[in-house]
Amino acid sequence: MSDGDAAELNELEPTRRKGSLKVRSFVLGGVLLVAAGAALFTWRQAKPVIESRKYANVTYEVPVAPKLKPADGETVYRIDPSKSSLSYEVQERFAGKKTSSASGTTSGIAGDIAVDPTDLAATRIGTVVVNLEQLHSDNNLRDARLRLDYLESHKHPLATFEPDEVTGLKGELAEGKAQAFTMAGDLTVKEITKPVRFAGTATLTDGALTVKATADTKLSDFDAGPIRIAGMVSTDDDAELTLELTAYDPTERTIPTRISGPDAKEPTGGPSFAKTVQPILEANCVSCHNTGQMGAHALTIDTAGDARGVSDGLKTVTTLKHMPPWPASDEGVPLKHKMALTQAEIDAIARWSDAGAPLDVSAEALIKPKPTEPGPTPRKDIVLDRPAYTGSLENTNDYRCFVLDPKLTKPTYLTGYTFVGDQMEELHHAQVFHISGEQVASSKAVDGKDGEPGWGCYSGPSLQGKRPSKVPGRAPKRDVGFSGQANLVAGWVPGQGPSDFGEDTGILMEPGDALVLQLHYHYTGKPVPDRSTLALQLEPGTKDLKALRVINPIGPVEIPCAPADQDAPLCDRTAALADNVKLYGPSGAANEAGLLMLCGRTPEQLTKDFDGQVAASSCDQSVPEDGTLVAVLGHMHTLGKSFRLTLDADTEQEQVLLDIPEWSFDWQMNYELETPVHVKAGQPLRLECSWDRSADPLRPPKYIVFAEGTEDEMCFATYALIPDDQG
Ligand code: HEC
Repeated sequence: MSDGDAAELNELEPTRRKGSLKVRSFVLGGVLLVAAGAALFTWRQAKPVIESRKYANVTYEVPVAPKLKPADGETVYRIDPSKSSLSYEVQERFAGKKTSSASGTTSGIAGDIAVDPTDLAATRIGTVVVNLEQLHSDNNLRDARLRLDYLESHKHPLATFEPDEVTGLKGELAEGKAQAFTMAGDLTVKEITKPVRFAGTATLTDGALTVKATADTKLSDFDAGPIRIAGMVSTDDDAELTLELTAYDPTERTIPTRISGPDAKEPTGGPSFAKTVQPILEANCVSCHNTGQMGAHALTIDTAGDARGVSDGLKTVTTLKHMPPWPASDEGVPLKHKMALTQAEIDAIARWSDAGAPLDVSAEALIKPKPTEPGPTPRKDIVLDRPAYTGSLENTNDYRCFVLDPKLTKPTYLTGYTFVGDQMEELHHAQVFHISGEQVASSKAVDGKDGEPGWGCYSGPSLQGKRPSKVPGRAPKRDVGFSGQANLVAGWVPGQGPSDFGEDTGILMEPGDALVLQLHYHYTGKPVPDRSTLALQLEPGTKDLKALRVINPIGPVEIPCAPADQDAPLCDRTAALADNVKLYGPSGAANEAGLLMLCGRTPEQLTKDFDGQVAASSCDQSVPEDGTLVAVLGHMHTLGKSFRLTLDADTEQEQVLLDIPEWSFDWQMNYELETPVHVKAGQPLRLECSWDRSADPLRPPKYIVFAEGTEDEMCFATYALIPDDQG
């Protein structure tokens, strides 16, 4: 943006946003995985077998491995699964905070080793076959996730290790003496084969051959990680594998072919499921986690047995406050429609999980959402039909925009809306933008150009043309620089009912104005045609309503590369800006320059405390006019770490409007204030954002500034103001 544009920005052009609303969140994401605490292996410590229909039916057969035939002088030893295991260990981090190691183990393991006691160097190790579906850790949700999404072991249960070189063994066998050795070979997991080298010791005592060996590998080598749950848990890419084998001569003793599953400790104590846990799930969770709802792809809870099968995960996500999704902290002003559990509820789930997840109802008992308390129900004066859109699995996080044109012939207030959902399982969330007739015309340049209705729009509709005017008598603004999320007026997340803006406010729409519905689709199966849309409640523009104005403070973004990547060409700031200009045109560099100027900051100031990982930015602005502030929202992309919007920062009257200590890209809600705050023109408003590079360690290194792409970042806020002066 030019200086002039920056000034305009300063004056607040950006526009408005949403109505009063109960809008909360959105989305993205991939949902992944794993949870929890440290700890480890042994079958004994493991929790009960996963029971959920979706997650389970792991059987405890031992796999079959090719058998070796003893040559002259050789004895074949066969792995005894009841005394053997393969374990993994990876480091996990929780929401940028503590680190711990996660470990899982399986005893479903088979293989032969042929030993000539007079010539150890000739030792032959046959193919070792391991059942990965049986991997068990201290967290049944982690196990379920590994099976489903990372190892995909329901599909590819068996891993094989084919040793092709054994070194270190020599001379004659000495009973009871540990021999150091290494074995290198091909490890195949999910049909992907990579070389792996195990190092350890082997010992023969009383006819039992014992081996203990470890190998380092990378999860990404097998397309099995690093594992991530947006905003919650992430693992390193490095994994250590440990093989502990005991093998016997099968002609001397019978080698078991079945193992028992993990010991299901009889659950004891803990709060009642029926009286305590089930009501919490019904009121707070299953509107999104029942089959067919938007959270079902991550976790399906239809029955008590389903909940029991992931009990550890329920404890993890609630203890970490990852679920229910409500990233705002209590440091800010009180917010409406708070979706958060009380500490007593969090503790109850934890105690139930720790007790082994006892059920005092049948495992088949259904868990259904509690109906939400009825609010004012807006009329459906008009339902805006649109053509069906079918996404594709090539873009599983699909942001798609559609123009919904109410064909207004007179100024009209939008005073409420109902989201009319179609394919709920595909939908993560929706946002609604108000556009002018000029923008409707410019949408023709993008709409349907890829053969499907609508257009891809990760950062918002980004349409050229002047923006609509929202306050009667005020001239509309021309689009400058970044306009992605401007004029956001409404939103929807699963579980949210219809929204009524309240008696005396509305979004003023002029003849020709329309709405853009931005849908975030998240596909986990073949996309089906979707026609989700909106029904609107409208009032004549002549009615005595107050118009709502949405304002978007924005701040600069300066995220240097991690020290290890400094030499990458795009880690040079100038080169990165030049690259952005190539990608986006002049705004690729000018937006950031304008924001630095607007906020009176330099890149040096903003990066002087950069610790190689976390970068921060802030911008002091002010409120443009007297009015009543009714809703706030933050927007950053996937490296976001924290967000805060504060009135009168560093003064006695300081009021935090919104504090998000652990940013979640998936859950960018619009928060309505419990008690609207009256503000005055010129009142100081501080925007603060921070980003954490470790949220995406595998991203190609590049110095990041403010821009609209998925790999760029933003520091962006929205607040809805009802101006006092509507003249
Ligand atoms: C507004 C919808 C919504 C509500 C309400 C909700 N969830 Fe979720 N949940 C999701 C979505 C979407 C995901 C996947 C994305 C993510 O993790 O943010 C998810 C993820 C999870 C996961 C992680 C699953 C995995 O393996 O990645 C667990 C566990 C979970 N939710 C449990 C709960 C519990 C317990 C509650 C209630 C206390 C709850 N959820 C409330 C939508 C919701």
